[in-house]
Amino acid sequence: MAKERIDKLLAGAGTRSRRDIKELVRQRRITLNGEAVTDAGQKADISHDIVCLDGTPLALKAHIYIMLHKPAGVVSASSSDCEKTVVDLVPADLRRTGLFPAGRLDKDTTGFVLITDDGAFAHRILSPKNHIEKTYIAVLEHPLCTADIAVLEQGLLLRNGTRFLPASVQILSEDAKQVQVKICEGKYHQIKRMFSAVGNCVTALRRTHMGALELDSALSPGACRELTQAELALILQK
Ligand code: URA
Repeated sequence: MAKERIDKLLAGAGTRSRRDIKELVRQRRITLNGEAVTDAGQKADISHDIVCLDGTPLALKAHIYIMLHKPAGVVSASSSDCEKTVVDLVPADLRRTGLFPAGRLDKDTTGFVLITDDGAFAHRILSPKNHIEKTYIAVLEHPLCTADIAVLEQGLLLRNGTRFLPASVQILSEDAKQVQVKICEGKYHQIKRMFSAVGNCVTALRRTHMGALELDSALSPGACRELTQAELALILQK
């Protein structure tokens, strides 16, 4: 585990600002392995160092990972002047500085959004090179035929030069209008544009899985919870 600045670790762990933390350091109320911290920029390794406030050990975590059931009508952004964002839905006890959605869903798309403050993890799960599948259920305007499945599964080159990697597509309903789609990349409006390229139209879209981790069915739209280490491992599992 890499060392992190103590002010960053403490600011990330709760609602204290960096200025408050500087003041706590000035008052010598923070200790690192029993020694008063004299510089808020001092670094600690949370895998073995013990950081205390007024003698009480702080439960520090380098990063947080939150599963959110995104409802329709909310934008996938960290902040917005005029619209409600997925980060606005995170309750105070899970709030940290630097939270962002790892991968965007359209405003009208529902389902699994991962919110974190860990840029490296987000990059790892989003980079197509790492082949982490995102699974969606799409409702289509027209039945999907096997010829169109073959086109989507081969990969697509749009007229404007955009290339979509091969997807995995499965029909779920008798009328062939409800389908499961798995993709390893997240280009702008990707699923909608893929179906539009074969003359169809997505009328509803929901993300159900990231990697092998399924959206918790106990989370109602708008609800979220922290992920366990085992669940994070499932996201990375191929
Ligand atoms: N593809 C889309 O078209 N929209 C989303 O929100 C996600 C994937």
